[in-house]
Amino acid sequence: MSHDTIETNQRTAAFADHDELWLFGYGSLIYKAGFDYSERRLATIEGWARRFWQGSHDHRGTPVAPGRVVTLVEAPGETCFGMAYRITPAHFEYLDHREKNGYLRFAQPMTLDNGQVEKGLVYIATPSNAAWLGEAPIDAIARQIVDTAGPSGPNRDYALDLADALREHGARDAHVFAVAERVRALIAAD
Ligand code: SIN
Repeated sequence: MSHDTIETNQRTAAFADHDELWLFGYGSLIYKAGFDYSERRLATIEGWARRFWQGSHDHRGTPVAPGRVVTLVEAPGETCFGMAYRITPAHFEYLDHREKNGYLRFAQPMTLDNGQVEKGLVYIATPSNAAWLGEAPIDAIARQIVDTAGPSGPNRDYALDLADALREHGARDAHVFAVAERVRALIAAD
């Protein structure tokens, strides 16, 4: 699979016949929408966990020095907190471009903060994508994040903004908080 998933996502028929749908964001989409939406709600999805295991060659790194951004990995029994946005299929072009470095559109059930359960859209980068970096010790992940930057800014801002946004919404995420703590320590030591 090439890095660029735009074409694959455009071929996806899921949701094309919907007037509106819910998008579940779990990374930068939590703290930066970048598009208009009719409604936004805190939400969770079951059986998935957020991990800094995806390479970023286009936003928070470069092709020679990729950054690390989050994706979702299957984790039976775990709950992942995120932000759901009510959008229309007209948003797909913007979203496919933003998430083009390995993320594919998936249909997943999500629970909104009013208890409503909806099958909505989630962009997930799976281990088979070319930009996948995979598991690494927290220290190595944090070092890579501190050392990289791309067109969207320093990778450290992505990691710290995500941790701050999760805390602000009262969400716990041991992996993200451990990476952010190590990133802060490395910045202080540099
Ligand atoms: C997301 O936020 O839902 C996808 C990952 C990212 O763009 O950080």
